[in-house]
Amino acid sequence: MSKRILSCMQPTNRLHLGNYLGALRNWVKLQDEGDNQCLYGVVDLHAITAGHDPAELGQATREIAAAYIAAGVDPAKSYIFVQSAVPAHAQLQWLFATQTPLGWLKRMTQFKDKAGKKQDLASLGLFGYPVLMAADILVYKATHVPVGDDQKQHLELTRDIAQSFNQHYCDGEEFFPLPEPVITGPATRVMSLRDGTAKMSKSADSDMTRINLTDDADTIAQKIRKAKTDPEPLPESVKDLESRAEADNLIGIYAALSDQNKETVLQQFGGKQFSDFKPALADLCVEKLAPITARMRELMNDPAELDSILKRGNDKANELAAPTIEETMRKLGFWS
Ligand code: TRP
Repeated sequence: MSKRILSCMQPTNRLHLGNYLGALRNWVKLQDEGDNQCLYGVVDLHAITAGHDPAELGQATREIAAAYIAAGVDPAKSYIFVQSAVPAHAQLQWLFATQTPLGWLKRMTQFKDKAGKKQDLASLGLFGYPVLMAADILVYKATHVPVGDDQKQHLELTRDIAQSFNQHYCDGEEFFPLPEPVITGPATRVMSLRDGTAKMSKSADSDMTRINLTDDADTIAQKIRKAKTDPEPLPESVKDLESRAEADNLIGIYAALSDQNKETVLQQFGGKQFSDFKPALADLCVEKLAPITARMRELMNDPAELDSILKRGNDKANELAAPTIEETMRKLGFWS
C-alpha cells in the first residue's frame, strides 16, 4: 500500500542546519521512495499562537516553502501547501477541539515549556495547538508523519484523537488511520555550536549557535571557527566521543553532510586537532549548503514561480481535504 506522508514546519524565524539534516533531507528521501504520496505544509496558523509580526509572516511563509524546494522537495512529485490557504485545517481543528478532553492537553510538555510560569497569559490557541496539528495530519488521512523527538507526544495525541473519533462516531471502523512516526536512518540531532547538550534552535538568542540556510560562506566559516570545543585532539573511536558533546556534534555534522558514519570520519580525523578539522568542516558545510542557499534566493526573487507552485499545492490540498470534512461532519450528525 502506498504511504501518505505529511509533515510541516512553522514559518517562525529562519531555517537552520538542524532543520535540513534532521528533517528536510529525510523528506526528500521519502518523496523518492516507492510510491509514497507526500504533502509538505507551511503551517502559518501555528505561527501566530505565541506572538508574531504581521509584517513578516507572509515573507517567512514564502521563505520556508522556498527552503523545501531548494533542499530538494520536488513540486512535481510532492505537494507543498500553506496551511491558511486550506480552510479545512481550521474547520477540522474545531470539530476535534470539541471532542478532546482538557486533561489530554494539560499533559503536553511543549505547552508547559513554551508557556512557562505564565500559563494564564498564554493563548487558547497555544494550548490547543496540538489539536490543530492533529487536524493537519488527519484531514489528509496521512499514514506516516516524519517528526522530531519533540513532536512525538503531539503525534500520540493525534492517534488518541483519531482512535476516539473512530470509536465514538464510526463504530470502530478505521475512518481516520492512526498515523505513525517516521524515523529515517540514524537520527541526526544537530546540537548548538555553543553548547553540545542543547539542540540547535531557531529561538536560541545567539545567532552564533546555529548555521542558517541563508548564511553566506564567510558567516558559516566564522561560526564553525568559533564553535565551542575542548582542548583534546579528536579521538580515534566513536566511544570516546561520548563524554565530549561538542566534538561529537561537529563529527556528527560532518558525517551527516558527507553521508558517512562517524567511524569513517574519525578514521580520517582521529588524532588531529580541531584547528585541522574545523576548516574541513566549514568547507563541507559551504559546499553542501551553497546550492541550497542559491536556489532559495532565486525562488525568493521570483515570486511568480513560487506562487504558482504553492497554488498547485494548495489546490490539491483543498481537493484532498474537502471529503474528509464532509464525512467527518456527517458522522457528527450535521446535515443528517
Ligand atoms: N508542531 C510542529 C513543530 O513545531 C509543526 C507541525 C504542525 C507539524 N503541524 C504538523 C509537524 C503536522 C508534522 C505534522 O515542529
